[in-house]
Amino acid sequence: MTNPTPEEVVGSLSLEQKAGLTSGADFWTSQEAPGVPSIMLTDGPHGVRKQQGGSDHLGLNASVPATCFPPAVALGSSFDAELLGRVGVALGEEARAESVGVLLGPGVNIKRSPLCGRNFEYLSEDPILSGVLGAALVNGLQSQGVGASVKHFAANNQETDRMRISADIDERPLREIYLRSFQRVVQDAAPWTVMCSYNRINGVFASQDPWLLTSVLREEWGYQGLVVSDWGAVVDRVASLTAGLDLEMPSSGGRTDAELVAAVGAGTLSETVLDTAAVRVVDMVQKAVAGADSSATYDAAAHHALAREAAAASMVLLKNDGVLPLSPDSSVAVIGHVAQAPRYQGAGSSQINPTRLDNALDEIRALSTLEVPFAAGYSEDGSSTPEQTAEAVAAASAAGTVLLFLGVPAAQESEGFDRDHLELPAQQLELLEAVLAVNARTVVVLSNGGVVRLSAFAERVPAILEGWLLGQAGGGATAQVLYGVVNPAGRLAETIPVRLEDTPAYGNFPGEHGHVRYGEGLLVGYRWYDARDMPVSFPFGHGLSYTTFEYSDMSAVADDAGITVSLTVTNTGGRDGADVVQVYTGLSDSSVARAPQELKGFAKVHLAVGASSSVVVQVRREDLAYWDTRISAWTVEGGPYTVSVGASSRDIRAEASVEVAGDEIRVPLSVDSTIGEVMAHPVAGPMIMAAVGGDGSGGILGDPSMLKMLESAPIGRMMGFPGSGVEPEQLAQLLAAANAE
Ligand code: BGC
Repeated sequence: MTNPTPEEVVGSLSLEQKAGLTSGADFWTSQEAPGVPSIMLTDGPHGVRKQQGGSDHLGLNASVPATCFPPAVALGSSFDAELLGRVGVALGEEARAESVGVLLGPGVNIKRSPLCGRNFEYLSEDPILSGVLGAALVNGLQSQGVGASVKHFAANNQETDRMRISADIDERPLREIYLRSFQRVVQDAAPWTVMCSYNRINGVFASQDPWLLTSVLREEWGYQGLVVSDWGAVVDRVASLTAGLDLEMPSSGGRTDAELVAAVGAGTLSETVLDTAAVRVVDMVQKAVAGADSSATYDAAAHHALAREAAAASMVLLKNDGVLPLSPDSSVAVIGHVAQAPRYQGAGSSQINPTRLDNALDEIRALSTLEVPFAAGYSEDGSSTPEQTAEAVAAASAAGTVLLFLGVPAAQESEGFDRDHLELPAQQLELLEAVLAVNARTVVVLSNGGVVRLSAFAERVPAILEGWLLGQAGGGATAQVLYGVVNPAGRLAETIPVRLEDTPAYGNFPGEHGHVRYGEGLLVGYRWYDARDMPVSFPFGHGLSYTTFEYSDMSAVADDAGITVSLTVTNTGGRDGADVVQVYTGLSDSSVARAPQELKGFAKVHLAVGASSSVVVQVRREDLAYWDTRISAWTVEGGPYTVSVGASSRDIRAEASVEVAGDEIRVPLSVDSTIGEVMAHPVAGPMIMAAVGGDGSGGILGDPSMLKMLESAPIGRMMGFPGSGVEPEQLAQLLAAANAE
């Protein structure tokens, strides 16, 4: 006997049962109904946070042990979709073993400001990178019969006032930057669920925005899955359901279910809208049931090893004058509290209870053949005492090389609030100065969820290793990278600015009185620094290796599918390693505002010493498109695109110009169209210009110098002038005829 379809199941339910299905039973489970079991949806994103005792969404109560993979801030820097796919598979195995039907992640919000308290949960400042990596993770996770929940849809780019703030964004940046990462994940990976955000967008709560949840998500992008609320995001349940939000979480204890029932009774909510949402819930539950396996287990040791591999792949070697890698017999001292007590994930709903926890100090000691002295230097909260400093200085002066671990204290970085500066704690910076004064060979190793200002010391230290928050196996990964067991290959998924005042959202973050204006428009992240030709400490895409790579034979060919970029990459150094080839495009004489260059594709290439590989990066034609606000459509502008291949956004190694055919668009003409726009119109231009003498035959526009001056005037206004020779009715007819052509 075949299982009933979701429609059949819903068809057999009462109004009350249908209303119940579209909200949670408690904190983490959906409600049951006849023929519909309850399933668990839980955080997420970089591990399974299944709470056993008391439930809360702020990470306060303990959850079952699970592998704490590197949070998104690290995974984003891997630039490695294949790796994220494997992490997704492992997350799926663990979720299934814990009978979790939907894992709440990944987060693909754009890092608009480095101050966002939750940047550790997001992948990048770039939408293509976020989208490609997010889709890879979702595909891996869902291959295990466990659903993803891509979040937080949309424009949740700050924590300040996150449950009320209106993100006021022009449509182009909204489409081209903030929604693009979601669009990529939805279209490439079909996540079972999309989680709406708490905030408003241009005044409307995401949880009840029909434009966002239905017009864009479903009608434009073709999304077939379910929309779930962020926990507590529903303001008005009837409005939410009508707008396209299918499942309210967590439970409202039946209160809002009753509102739905009453609204159907009162005729203010159509029962078919409720049926549609209930069908989507049943569909999600059926998929989860089909994927469930009560006997499933996972290999915790193998997952720890994967967590370490991912952590090592995510570290970014920002600077190295040759002091790294260390050899096993190097004399080193380790300084810094976090070397022994790692900060490996951020605070809030994503806190995983790890199955194991490595620390860098033990792992360094395991790789070294010498004694490795250690001094904490500062305490957990970042403060330090004179005794701690003296102990650190003594250890530093006796060592060949100092490994100085610095970072943002846990209390300064969390879901729920933003940072108000980019500085490392003052005591840590003082410690750095004291250590540097006695030992110039001081390697700085960083632990931080959002970027910190490095310009105070970057030029004065021989090496900096950006370790982000690396998950439970980060300690081992850090030791492996420092000793060259793993050749670093991470790249910055976000710019490290010289100072906070340089950042794109500065002055427009976090807003006030319920509104935050995205005044930087399209110029988010590297787009901003490039457009202004500003110095940065370390650019987007940057990351060093212990070997060197050379690019040759680059070519770029445009066709209907986009641009195919090919090149040869050769490992020309002395170690095996991986490189990230980055492809940027630009269109300098564009008719619309654009960043000078934008990432459109990338590939991670693993190469043995001396080996070469041909690399092909496919730039999708749709990724070349801008959102044309005149016709409300994605549009590829034709022209000679610059295709740049680089090892970072500021280390472009090869360039080509390729002619891309534009989309043919017709912007309907009206009396508000300017004379210039009318003239540019292939059909209307000649017709109308002939009628008003603009073809040189006399009349108001007959004089070329007049014409130039009047180009920006609306044609309707000009035709009202004495002597134009054209009556309003005649103009209306001409415009209608032109538009009909
Ligand atoms: C967070 C979500 C999370 C949910 C459940 C919310 O506060 O914004 O990311 O999935 O809680 O814990």
